[in-house]
Amino acid sequence: MSPNHLLLRLLPGLLAVILALALSPAWAGESAGMALLESRCASCHNISGPAPATIHALWARKAPDLFYAGNKFRRTWLVSWLQHPVRIRPAGEFYADHVKPGPERDMVDESTLAPHMALGAADAKLAADALMTLRAHDDLIAKEHVPAGSISRSMGSLVFDKFLGCMACHRVKPDFGGLSGPELYTAGARLKPAFMASYIRSPQSWDPKIWMPNKHVSDTRIVQLVHYLQALSKGGSHE
Ligand code: HEC
Ligand code: HEC
Repeated sequence: MSPNHLLLRLLPGLLAVILALALSPAWAGESAGMALLESRCASCHNISGPAPATIHALWARKAPDLFYAGNKFRRTWLVSWLQHPVRIRPAGEFYADHVKPGPERDMVDESTLAPHMALGAADAKLAADALMTLRAHDDLIAKEHVPAGSISRSMGSLVFDKFLGCMACHRVKPDFGGLSGPELYTAGARLKPAFMASYIRSPQSWDPKIWMPNKHVSDTRIVQLVHYLQALSKGGSHE
């Protein structure tokens, strides 16, 4: 068969493939989103897993892991934060590299913290959609069920602060609380309820070497804590 003949025979099939690709914007968007994550985010963020397996690797981590972003974040928050990023970990990543001794307690050395890159609206949506497909921990999420509900601020803060000591590492309002963990007064807007529940139940199932202790919190307390974090955050509606 001459090369020309071969081409003619293959042409209908090729055309069908090209047409199928052109007609599937979802596929095209997803791959463009993944390409964006790979080219502009993966130099700092781990988007394919696994989590650091040693303390040394944990301390050397430049940015939070994103390979389970789809299990963790609310898409609406991602789209808006990626356009207008604000600090989540008061002392950045890794926190001990960005604190200095103060007169009474450790203080954040702001001069060592760089602002996060911001994306335009279209790229933010592309990136958010791609991030939502990264769901390495569907298994952990499937174990959680957080019923809708509420808790008074005073009861919530009693459980969070006095009973369980969570405030040692987490802020519950700007400038109030610990420095070594992410601030939690926006957690309800940022994070899925099942992720919060699962992370509180067993931080090391998500990040084997992380310094958040497993406090063996009971199911009842876990639900109370999630409701409290949702109450702290204005956008903390149940989903
Ligand atoms: C120069 C390194 C760097 C690059 C490049 C970078 N990030 Fe980040 N990113 C960080 C750091 C550091 C944080 C933690 C910020 C904080 O907690 O205040 C962060 C936080 C985040 C968070 C919140 C994560 C969490 O667990 O709270 C998301 C989502 C995110 N980045 C997405 C992206 C995306 C999408 C891109 C690419 C378009 C990107 N980042 C590029 C360093 C980077
Ligand atoms: C010794 C410090 C420490 C204590 C005490 C602590 N945490 Fe954490 N917590 C962390 C760190 C570190 C992370 C994860 C940091 C990261 O992803 O960069 C974390 C993550 C979380 C997250 C996920 C937040 C996010 O943005 O990824 C939630 C929710 C949370 N903690 C709730 C709690 C609750 C509730 C308690 C009390 C039962 C508690 N923590 C006690 C250090 C602590």
